[in-house]
Amino acid sequence: MKKAAPERSAYVCQECGARSPKWAGQCPECGAWNSLVETRAPAPGSARGRHYAGATAEVCRLGDVPPLHTLRQSTGLDELDRVLGGGLVAGSVVLIGGDPGIGKSTLLIQALAQMAAETPGLYVTGEESLQQVALRARRLGLSADNLQLMSETSIERIIATAEQLKPALLVVDSIQTLHSDQLQSAPGSVGQVRETAAMLVRLAKQRGISVFIVGHVTKEGALAGPRVLEHMVDTVLYFEGDSGSRYRLVRAVKNRFGAANELGVFAMTDQGLKPVSNPSAIFLSRHEQPVAGSVIMVTREGTRPLLVEVQALVADSPLGNPRRVAVGVEQNRLSLLLAVLHRHGGVAMFDQDVFLNVVGGVRVAETAADLAALLAIRSSFRDRPLPTDLVVFGEVGLAGEIRPVHGGPERLREAAKHGFRRAIVPHANLPPRPIPNMEIIAVRQLGEALDAWHEP
Ligand code: TYD
Ligand code: MG
Repeated sequence: MKKAAPERSAYVCQECGARSPKWAGQCPECGAWNSLVETRAPAPGSARGRHYAGATAEVCRLGDVPPLHTLRQSTGLDELDRVLGGGLVAGSVVLIGGDPGIGKSTLLIQALAQMAAETPGLYVTGEESLQQVALRARRLGLSADNLQLMSETSIERIIATAEQLKPALLVVDSIQTLHSDQLQSAPGSVGQVRETAAMLVRLAKQRGISVFIVGHVTKEGALAGPRVLEHMVDTVLYFEGDSGSRYRLVRAVKNRFGAANELGVFAMTDQGLKPVSNPSAIFLSRHEQPVAGSVIMVTREGTRPLLVEVQALVADSPLGNPRRVAVGVEQNRLSLLLAVLHRHGGVAMFDQDVFLNVVGGVRVAETAADLAALLAIRSSFRDRPLPTDLVVFGEVGLAGEIRPVHGGPERLREAAKHGFRRAIVPHANLPPRPIPNMEIIAVRQLGEALDAWHEP
């Protein structure tokens, strides 16, 4: 009897698809550099390699597809449930990315312990020893009864153990430490990360096991990192936050079962991560006295309005090419806004260094910060503070027009809830009904916004 050819790994060029049996720095076919990635490839002629064999796949009408009961289970941490879209969906694969040391392992061991009562979980660690994990769990006061631990880096053995134990939840910490015996490249390489993740996804879908995959992101974000597997998993969560600050933000970048861009807020304490249910309160450091260059804006993180402070510092520049530094907002956006301020607001900044910062390590990705940024910059430039009970939001267009943003009334209500009494907003965001205790100044042009407030 003829033996089936064993599966072998091959190096496949990511640019042109050429395969070669050995790694090389340059693809022999198309000449691309560093494009060969080790891939577990079926030998030519094996069943897996044959395509278009004449068999057809089953087709059915959209209406006939039986509804999937997306059973959601609470993770015991409200803020984690929120970013997952209202709890963990059985059989889903969640990638948690973030810098080393930001709290990924802490969050997952907490969630696993909270869920252990109903959902037996398996925590696989390739980074820490079992003693380290146990020590941390004990220090966090987590009940350890139903929590199963394993220290393992071979994906084949992890899959075999999971198939035998049948946990409802599997945590793999981290994908960069795993390796498949079928590939020769080192753990953490693109080939290994992709292959081991694919096997975990297959396990989740076939057995209905929910899988959390931890991935470290390098500073560049991409290098052999979890980026290569973002499209394979159902949900991608990223941990953000300064290591100096106690607050940690968990953002859903992709979610097949809920809203993307949803944000969960945690505080790192000596008892682990604690959900923060009212984040507006922590990002606002209310100044006793009005301070020049500080403006409060209402941003939206996912479905939730969030009050944040935008600070600007404008100073005479000794440099021929003055500095523009933006932290928490996009650098290009700042340059664009300064150009609009010059052209349509009549405030020139070409000989000024401009620094812009969103307080608390928050990153504002939406354009609603435009107006707040410009008012903060002008306030610092003129050294004239704005009132402390004022909030601002709105997009600024290149023609100097103030454009509406999503969710105006919600933003205003959130501001009113935190005691703000005045708001400068785009005219098109004027709420249909007045907001109690709030004076609303609606503006159409940048000039109107800059003139809206005169300190006596
Ligand atoms: P960790 O979860 O190990 O990070 P990651 O898995 O993302 O690499 O978190 C480690 C950091 O968190 C470490 O710097 C110490 C801090 N920490 C606390 O402040 N309090 C705690 O209760 C725990 C467990 C960790
Ligand atoms: Mg860790």
